[in-house]
Amino acid sequence: DKAGHKHFMAKEIAEQPQVIAEAVKHYLGQSGHSITLPDGGLDFTGIDRLVMVACGTAYYACLTAKYWFEQLARLPVEVDVASEFRYREPPVTEGTLALFVSQSGETADTLAALRYCRDKAERIVSVVNVPESSIARESDLALPILAGTEIGVASTKAFSCQLTVLLILALEAARQKGRISEERLESLLSALRGLPATLGNALETDTMAEALSLELAEAQDILFLGRGLMYPLALEGALKMKEISYIHAEAYASGELKHGPIALIDKHVPVVVMAPRDALFEKTVSNMQEVMARGGRVVLISDHAGLEAAQDGIWRSIEMPMVDPVLTPILYALPAQLMAYHTAVAKGTDVDQPRNLAKSVTVE
Ligand code: M6R
Repeated sequence: DKAGHKHFMAKEIAEQPQVIAEAVKHYLGQSGHSITLPDGGLDFTGIDRLVMVACGTAYYACLTAKYWFEQLARLPVEVDVASEFRYREPPVTEGTLALFVSQSGETADTLAALRYCRDKAERIVSVVNVPESSIARESDLALPILAGTEIGVASTKAFSCQLTVLLILALEAARQKGRISEERLESLLSALRGLPATLGNALETDTMAEALSLELAEAQDILFLGRGLMYPLALEGALKMKEISYIHAEAYASGELKHGPIALIDKHVPVVVMAPRDALFEKTVSNMQEVMARGGRVVLISDHAGLEAAQDGIWRSIEMPMVDPVLTPILYALPAQLMAYHTAVAKGTDVDQPRNLAKSVTVE
């Protein structure tokens, strides 16, 4: 049932305020002021390193979480795609928490990576959408993301719910390790409680994304740029775009632009820049100027302050609500998904069942 939407993907994008509200309620309890993990929780005392493994969109959720675990909890994190991790035979030592993220819980490479870590890691934890899946069953602790059934092959609500659960886990690690003040923790929990409403507001960018997508649909190539927490999101935006619109899309860390990709820029290439006005914003502005100086068409996704501060010459923009910088990946996932969705609709592709792809990749 598409609940009045044309595609399951549109329905699943629109559901994000509700499903994230469910996830937040589940992990922050009725009061919303403390973190509760299922099954007796997780003791971070003996944990000094995290290894996170996944594929595709779930891998980008892990890349985002690396910033959170490192910055909030000061825990070193290694992230890898499961197909590389499993055959590299990486050392996994005591004190390592091995964390696997998978919507389906059945991805062959992720499951094989989990089995590799069994008897090596201190604890095996998974973040899954299907609680009875193989990955959930074979973990010491499985954390549900509560996104509900996701039918569209392009993952949307599962991604934002994975991010939400991973952020809560990073906050719990920071709390247990005494790396976050009570005030800062409470202010982030409060931002999480307010997130469903903020996401509801952000969904209003749908018409802007739709208008823009008519123009993006003409492009042969699209670049996505982001710094810090926005870098993994740029990767996710590019994956979503190529998956369903079949337009070649690539993402780079903004600072890498001048190390090669800038050679691709000309007036035919739209460059989507994700940049809330955070501590790194000024750096991104100078990258945008480099793009514009070469005729590149910049699409800036930012908040009011960022759009004000960015100089003339921006081709198109999408204005996002303001939110604590830590939460921006969850919010900025929406325009990334909406742009891909509307571009695919404009191109007339099979949005829910894109060619050559399966929802669950159970063979390597
Ligand atoms: O079920 P999983 O989360 O383990 O799946 C991982 C990837 O196959 C998946 O995220 C894929 O990249 C999606 N089609 C992305 O939209």
